[in-house]
Amino acid sequence: MEGQIDHQIIVSADGSHTIYLPLLDETYHSSHGAIAESRYVYLQHGLQTLDLKHLKVLEIGFGTGLNALLTYQYAQAHNISIDYETLEPYRLAEGVFSQLNYGSILGDESIFRAMHLAAANSKIELSSNFNICIRPATIQEFETSQTYDIIYFDAFAPSKQPEIWEIPVLKKLFSLLNTSGILVTYCASGQFRRNLIAAGFAVEVLEGPPPKKQMFRGRKG
Ligand SMILES: C[S@@+](CC[C@H](N)C(=O)[O-])C[C@H]1O[C@@H](n2cnc3c(N)ncnc32)[C@H](O)[C@@H]1O
Repeated sequence: MEGQIDHQIIVSADGSHTIYLPLLDETYHSSHGAIAESRYVYLQHGLQTLDLKHLKVLEIGFGTGLNALLTYQYAQAHNISIDYETLEPYRLAEGVFSQLNYGSILGDESIFRAMHLAAANSKIELSSNFNICIRPATIQEFETSQTYDIIYFDAFAPSKQPEIWEIPVLKKLFSLLNTSGILVTYCASGQFRRNLIAAGFAVEVLEGPPPKKQMFRGRKG
């Protein structure tokens, strides 16, 4: 599939790249700043709010690997250990990910490449306190006996993939969280907030990444 899809690399407002998919008319990140938005949503309002020394992260949509790289760096800087599991049914080809400027902006280019080159379904240890496992599965078909402390819900927008943002998938995500675990996402739709509540989450309304007014964080228990 990856060979057939046109992935256009574009520069977002903070100078970091993102990918535009003409097929879906959708970008992988905010054009207002890919790195800025990922840091704000997934680190500042996600990881950083959990007072745990060992964390299990589940990401829906590995995509460019930006969230994974930022999380790796967060683990190094804060001396916590992270098991990072991420779902990606459509991995990027080397000709695409090797053009992305995250390694040159953030450093750790070799870690970034190692993530992208990781064999599917294998737990790859990238440092003594960070390992990653990339599952070639959609959230709908993903099955596991694991539970997680935090879910990065970074699928394409509800207007492009409505089924992923509906109650059955959100109930599944709720069941995959540990007690007090959280789900964070960039999505700020009112219907999504109502779906989170219907799936069992306690929902906090937070200031959104600029220019969004708000974002939601769902908590279990
Ligand atoms: C918004 S982009 C990913 C952003 C990614 N976290 C990053 O930092 O680049 C959404 C990703 O979800 C993947 N995806 C599409 N359908 C999916 C599904 N049903 N389950 C899980 N991931 C899916 C896409 O291939 C894409 O890589």
